[in-house]
Amino acid sequence: MTPPPPTPAPNITVSVINGPNLNLLGLREPGIYGSQSLADVEQLVTARAAELGVTVTFAQSNHEGELVDLIQDARTSAHAIILNPAAYSHTSVAIADALSAVQLPVAEVHLSNIHKREEFRHHSFVSAVADVVICGAGPLGYVLALEYLAAKLGAAPDA
Ligand code: DQA
Repeated sequence: MTPPPPTPAPNITVSVINGPNLNLLGLREPGIYGSQSLADVEQLVTARAAELGVTVTFAQSNHEGELVDLIQDARTSAHAIILNPAAYSHTSVAIADALSAVQLPVAEVHLSNIHKREEFRHHSFVSAVADVVICGAGPLGYVLALEYLAAKLGAAPDA
C-alpha cells in the first residue's frame, strides 16, 4: 500500500513587535538593556526563524495607538505575536485589549528582569493575556519566545 503523502509543513508567520524606546537599544542604558541594537536582535531572531522554518516580521513603534494597530494587523498577517511592550506593559489596557481581541498566541518579552527592578515595573497588563512571559534573558528572550511559539504552532524545522 502506498503511504499517504506527508502533511505539508505549516507556513507560520510570527510578528515581532517592539514598543517605545526600543529603537534606541544598544545606546539606551546599556548596563540594563545590553549593547546589542534592535537590528542585532532582529538578526538573531531571523537566523533562528530560518532554522525553524518560520517567517518573522518586525515592527517598532514609540506610540501606543500604533502598537494597537500593529497588533490588530497581525490578526490577518501572522499566526502569533512576540511583543515587548516596553513601558506600555505597565500602563496600557488598550494594548492588553488589542491582544485579547486578536486571539493569537502571544509571547511577552522583556530584556531586563522587570521583577528585580523598580516596583512600578513589576506589574504588566500584558502578562494577563500572554501565553508566555520571558524576562531577564536579554536578546535571547526573543529567540526563546520564537522557539515556544514555533513548537506550539507545530512549525517544521529544517532537516
Ligand atoms: C522593558 C522593561 C520595561 O520596564 C521598560 O520600560 C522598557 C523595556 C525590557 O525589555 O526590559 O522599555 O520592556
